[in-house]
Amino acid sequence: MMNKYRLMSPGPTPIPPEVSAAGALPIIHHRTPEFGEIFTRVNENLKRVFLTENDIFTYAASGTGAFEGAVQNLFSPGDKVLVVNSGNFGGRWVKMCKAFGLEVTELKYDWGQKADNDEVAEALANDPEIKAAICVLSETSTGTVNDIQGFAGVTQGVVSIVDAVSGLGACELRTDEWGIDVVVAGSQKALMTPPGLGFVSVSEKAMRMHEQSTMPRYYFDWTAAKKAYEKDPAQTAWTPPVSIIIQLDVALRQLIDEGIENVFERHVLLGRASREGVKGMGLTLFGPDEDLNSAVTASYIPEGIDGKQFVKMLFREHGIQVAGGQGEMVGRIFRIGHCGYFDAYDIIATIAAAELALESLGHPVELGKGVGAAQRVFSKSGAVA
Ligand SMILES: Cc1ncc(COP(=O)(O)O)c(C=O)c1O
Repeated sequence: MMNKYRLMSPGPTPIPPEVSAAGALPIIHHRTPEFGEIFTRVNENLKRVFLTENDIFTYAASGTGAFEGAVQNLFSPGDKVLVVNSGNFGGRWVKMCKAFGLEVTELKYDWGQKADNDEVAEALANDPEIKAAICVLSETSTGTVNDIQGFAGVTQGVVSIVDAVSGLGACELRTDEWGIDVVVAGSQKALMTPPGLGFVSVSEKAMRMHEQSTMPRYYFDWTAAKKAYEKDPAQTAWTPPVSIIIQLDVALRQLIDEGIENVFERHVLLGRASREGVKGMGLTLFGPDEDLNSAVTASYIPEGIDGKQFVKMLFREHGIQVAGGQGEMVGRIFRIGHCGYFDAYDIIATIAAAELALESLGHPVELGKGVGAAQRVFSKSGAVA
């Protein structure tokens, strides 16, 4: 049987055909009015997705690069920072902050658990020298989404930094309304664009902290980025990946046309249907069963099944690329990504293939039970009439 390739990973994610086609357009020079017009529109539309009036700097880098830039631009060696760590990416920011000589207070949670914002508040109250607090919106390694509105509420006395690499455009995030100083994102997830761009939104408060920072930096220097950003038309400080920015322009316009509130709602449905599908086929969810988790669905691999083999089989025999577990969850969970260009039928196909793969691996499964559960979420919502 011919298999159609379906990329169901939490990043990189599939991109709309119009975005693919835009990548084939001729390269234009980046110091021209033509590029400036596109980049100015991209900046305006990014603000509409970040829900902010803050400046958003765009780098030729993945999300990790934009995050590294934030650390370099905000801190001085020896500064104190609070980092919430409830998975692979929280853990990465702990390591990165330490690599840059920061003194890290780590608030550690089991993988799959959410951060407790009362504990964040307590940790900050216990050490008034802490200058900034970091939390991940959607912890992609577990599928769990943190309460960032609550986090922002208790971190108003410091600079708040949110890793929204997999969350931006998939999970509700209201940068200005909630008062988040720095939001980091990447192009390759819910922004429906190829990998290669990293973004950071910077509040005036964060910019003031930046002005005091003595950390060495060059490529990611926010002052250089701001100078270029404020040109008319807007520019990047260094040569940008022109094609990816042209692709992002198309993707952002699609998101704006759909309406950002509708985009959030679509992701809530995709998450709910995935969770119902997983439970319907008799598997156990990893992490809380709640609508907040709208970017990634993580499920335990049933006892007796080799997790890596299951993920391989879904790809080789069904054309469906989901993600396995990371770090301590390698081989124990699988993750369905649904942040970005995904619809109801992507989820239904994935659940259908997972049922078939489990059956062929000898796990007792009633074909169609998970599929039916996922379908009912969409039919109840009126999303597929
Ligand atoms: C929550 C989160 N943070 C950070 C990253 C790192 O981003 P990148 O791989 O773009 O460097 C990822 C990538 O999967 C992520 O999901």
